[in-house]
Amino acid sequence: MNKKVIGFAGSILSSVLWLSVLTAQAQNLVNPKTEAKITALIKKMTLAEKVGMLHANSSFTSAGVKQLGIPELVTSDGPHGVRLEHGRGWTPLKNVNDAGTYLPTGNALAATWNPKLGYDFGAVLGSEAKFRGKDVILGPGINIIRSPLNGRNFEYQSEDPYLIAQMAVGYIKGVQDQGVSASLKHFAANNEEVDRGTVNVEMSERALREIYLPGFEAAVKKGQVNTVMGAYNKFRGQYATENKYLINDILKGEWGFKGLVMSDWGAVHNTMEALENGTDLEMGSDLGTPPLKYSQFFLGDTVITLVKNGKVPITLIDDKVRRILRVMFKTNMIGAKRTVGAYNTKAHQQTALKVAEEGIVLLKNEDNVLPLAKEKIKSIAIIGQNADRENAMGGGSSQVKAKYEITPLHGIKNLLGNGVNVQYAQGYKIARNGQADSALINEAVKIATKADATVIFCGWTHGYDYKKWDDNAYDAEGVDKPDMDMPFGQNELIKAVLKANPNTIIVLMGGGPIDVREWVGKSKAIIEGWYPGMEGGTALAKVIFGEVNPSGKLPMTFPKKLEDSPAHKLGEFPGVNGVVHYKEDIFVGYRYFDTYKVEPQFPFGHGLSYTTFYYENAAIQRTGDKQVTASVTLKNTGKRDGAEVVQFYVEPINPRVSRPRKELKGFQKVFLKAGETKTIKVVLNKDAFSYYDEKKKTWVADNGKYLIAIGNSSKDIQVSKELVL
Ligand code: BGC
Repeated sequence: MNKKVIGFAGSILSSVLWLSVLTAQAQNLVNPKTEAKITALIKKMTLAEKVGMLHANSSFTSAGVKQLGIPELVTSDGPHGVRLEHGRGWTPLKNVNDAGTYLPTGNALAATWNPKLGYDFGAVLGSEAKFRGKDVILGPGINIIRSPLNGRNFEYQSEDPYLIAQMAVGYIKGVQDQGVSASLKHFAANNEEVDRGTVNVEMSERALREIYLPGFEAAVKKGQVNTVMGAYNKFRGQYATENKYLINDILKGEWGFKGLVMSDWGAVHNTMEALENGTDLEMGSDLGTPPLKYSQFFLGDTVITLVKNGKVPITLIDDKVRRILRVMFKTNMIGAKRTVGAYNTKAHQQTALKVAEEGIVLLKNEDNVLPLAKEKIKSIAIIGQNADRENAMGGGSSQVKAKYEITPLHGIKNLLGNGVNVQYAQGYKIARNGQADSALINEAVKIATKADATVIFCGWTHGYDYKKWDDNAYDAEGVDKPDMDMPFGQNELIKAVLKANPNTIIVLMGGGPIDVREWVGKSKAIIEGWYPGMEGGTALAKVIFGEVNPSGKLPMTFPKKLEDSPAHKLGEFPGVNGVVHYKEDIFVGYRYFDTYKVEPQFPFGHGLSYTTFYYENAAIQRTGDKQVTASVTLKNTGKRDGAEVVQFYVEPINPRVSRPRKELKGFQKVFLKAGETKTIKVVLNKDAFSYYDEKKKTWVADNGKYLIAIGNSSKDIQVSKELVL
């Protein structure tokens, strides 16, 4: 087969698998035949063997029972690539084949608003995890982006539970269709990093149900995820990983989750609470100086004694072992053979590229400064350390050793070839307490003045030393950003360069919102590039030069200033004296900005294109009890092919209870050739109209009037239609 045919066959296969997501139910974790096999296995196990399976026996593994054919369970981070090899300890191994595909990070994926790409993304991870001998990939991370400052926002997806649910289900199916497990994390309410190991999160039941849980629920019920990772923080006074309400009552009770709950690394604090409240596997506890004695874990030898003394029933232990075995049977770890998976294939790299291309968001484009016309450019100034910085190894546990990483500077050079003079100036210096450096700024201004076009790559960074997990970092585990201001004097740089060339294109990189007020009014073109993965530089170059028509949409609101963000306005981030009250309640992200009429810098769902789209003929058809099908006709009225994300928001008119002005309840990414027209339909069932009634402890869809608002962002509603439910 030639390359083209293979590529085509690959894309057919991916589409067929994706269709199976939409039509078929995934194999459930429980089926009578395997349950009988599991019962037989458990009967043969000694107490010590059972307990051995409930805790780690190395940094990323937990024990099996060799003589019974039960292998070790091998886990690996994590959300956007298979982590480098640690062997059994914490020191990265040398001379191993562990440089793989580095995908764009979570919020770049969410910005594609393309669940099919979520599936493809997951499939790459699953396939590479399998190739590397991993059984569980520790992702996706789907915690709500509550504040722009959370150091781990880059790994997460969105402020909106509906968007998260759509993307997470795709991702999980993608991973698990490869025959390995995903691990959904961090359950639940892990929305800040700085004090993640101790903070107690207090929120209303309504906020929990409407905002913080729906993504997890969809991942369990629709995504059929095999494993869930408990979070570090406390929830209503009890650690999340051993939280009765979250794990026993909701996850395993209400949602009927039959798989295994593992702790986050070091998130178990108490043997009895963990045993009784749903933790099945304890990972990563810190027992002081190595060598670690894994038998001393909370779920180690103590448990043997407790069972022997009659303090803990063996049935409780058996249930945990059963859950682990279910996952093992489902993923062909016992009595079956796995296929090998694939590593570093061209197709995987192409998926990384595609996600980056579709996730990049064009925030502003006055006077059609973008795209740049390649044929008209003889010289270009590329400015900013982020233009030539690799990010794969940054950020903490999600670090990936990338096979290669195309930085923006590389990508632009590759695209332009030899005929164009590409000049680079660092512009600012990523360094601890780094301030504006006038020599670097002058050098940048100098090249900008002479060039035909100028692009600045600026924004966030994982840490000062990108290869380390740096406790003074910005987008990284264990830290939160101090504010929304770009560090290292980047604002000064941008202002100076904009003066020299008002058409300068500004590309923001990193894990989300930045305060751009100092220069936004003077800039004409702004792009959000996130952490776009190993092919990110290629994708950015293609967007800048118009080879790709941007179609990404913001998965979170960009506030003008930090204090506009509800958690910060209320002084509730990161909390006081170890407690954080989510006083903004259900008004997270655009739900707040919209309802309380606070003007964002860039709204949720926003993202421009190089073509234009026209919306017409909004219509609503009743298709069931409290269910309608909403439709709209979309026309690509510009000269370029392009994609639009048609967003359907439900707006209750005069609701009986306090509700957000409107909420996203459906969307579709539509690719249209120039001049093409298509009708888009979305089913809105009872869930789309419901709120959580705390008194009745259930979801309620009140009768009454609703507006179905259809548009291309939460603020840019193009057409709408009223209905009476
Ligand atoms: C992180 C998890 C990660 C685990 C294992 C923890 O610190 O919070 O997301 O999967 O480490 O590396």
